[in-house]
Amino acid sequence: MIAVRNGHRARARMVGLGAHVPERIVTNRDIAEHVDTSDEWIVERTGIRERRFVADGEAASDLGVIAARRILDDAGLLAEEVDTLIVPTASPDHIFPSTAALVAERIGAHRAAAFDLNAGCTGFVYALAQACALVEAGIGRNALIVGAEALSRLTDHSDRSTCILFGDAAAGAMIVAGEDDSTTGFLGFELGADGAGGPDLIVPAGGSRQPLEEAEPGDAYIQMNGREVFRFATRVMVESITRLLNALEMGIQEVDVLVAHQANSRIIDNAIGQLGIPAERVINNLDRYGNTSSASIPLVLAEARDAGRLRPGHLMLLTGFGAGLTWGSTLVRYEPR
Ligand code: COA
Repeated sequence: MIAVRNGHRARARMVGLGAHVPERIVTNRDIAEHVDTSDEWIVERTGIRERRFVADGEAASDLGVIAARRILDDAGLLAEEVDTLIVPTASPDHIFPSTAALVAERIGAHRAAAFDLNAGCTGFVYALAQACALVEAGIGRNALIVGAEALSRLTDHSDRSTCILFGDAAAGAMIVAGEDDSTTGFLGFELGADGAGGPDLIVPAGGSRQPLEEAEPGDAYIQMNGREVFRFATRVMVESITRLLNALEMGIQEVDVLVAHQANSRIIDNAIGQLGIPAERVINNLDRYGNTSSASIPLVLAEARDAGRLRPGHLMLLTGFGAGLTWGSTLVRYEPR
């Protein structure tokens, strides 16, 4: 991709959505066969009923390639037209090369700059900010975001506090340059990170701090302080949304659709109660997919679009939180081509 800025001042718009989930369904009862838990406990404490797992040998990029093609179809664009390909992921195929470079190669996005973005489960919202900034700065016109996750590969399936939560999926959106005088697109972002909470949600080994050959048993898997993460998430989701709305001098009643990162229905219900948004404007699907990290928000959006719940012009409030610890919210109008 090469960019020459010539006074380019286009607004960024979200024009396409798409998703792909692996075939294998793992129900709560399946999990209860190998750890001490129950369908009732998991549904009551998390809202999750089932999730999808990749097949043996399948990785994040395999899901990402299919989702990317669907997003391109929805946006009416060809892979060669993609200027930037961002893969937010917490479960990349490798430390390097980036999963984005692998996806770009396989879909034929040969002109694209491609990179992964690691902001835990806030990855999609961070990637929207990146894509919006690039497009509005004139550094490329079309940015493809594909959240791609194979978290089941990083999960200790004997740890009942984490193995019930996570699922695999890929989903994303196409961000393109709109017209100069457009008043829509992204209204604003509120993003943050607090590394002090890093140890609360971590894969300790496999990086330069603790190479795999030095790893203790279990350190190559997700480790989580569930109560701390729960406390953090319930606080930060409401704070982030409130800061964003205040900065925009808007009220929650102006929001048509709220899609939150799908981690736990109790976290989302708590926020709905505090924010005062009508429950029918909040769209969830975590009962069927669990926590798919960077894929979770666009997975809801793609399904909502297919179900006719997303209309052109709808003002969408998207909010996420996750490893880092990170958080982020944005308000964007849905403007399909
Ligand atoms: N089945 C049955 N019991 C379980 C269990 C499971 N799958 N997981 C934990 N428990 C037990 C605990 O061992 C504990 O038992 P104890 O009282 O004998 O010690 C008891 O349930 C309560 O544990 P607690 O951690 O307080 O449960 P909780 O209500 O906080 O629910 C989580 C646990 C993980 C569901 C919850 O903390 C959570 O969702 N946290 C946020 C996780 C998250 O969203 N992470 C990703 C962020 S992007």
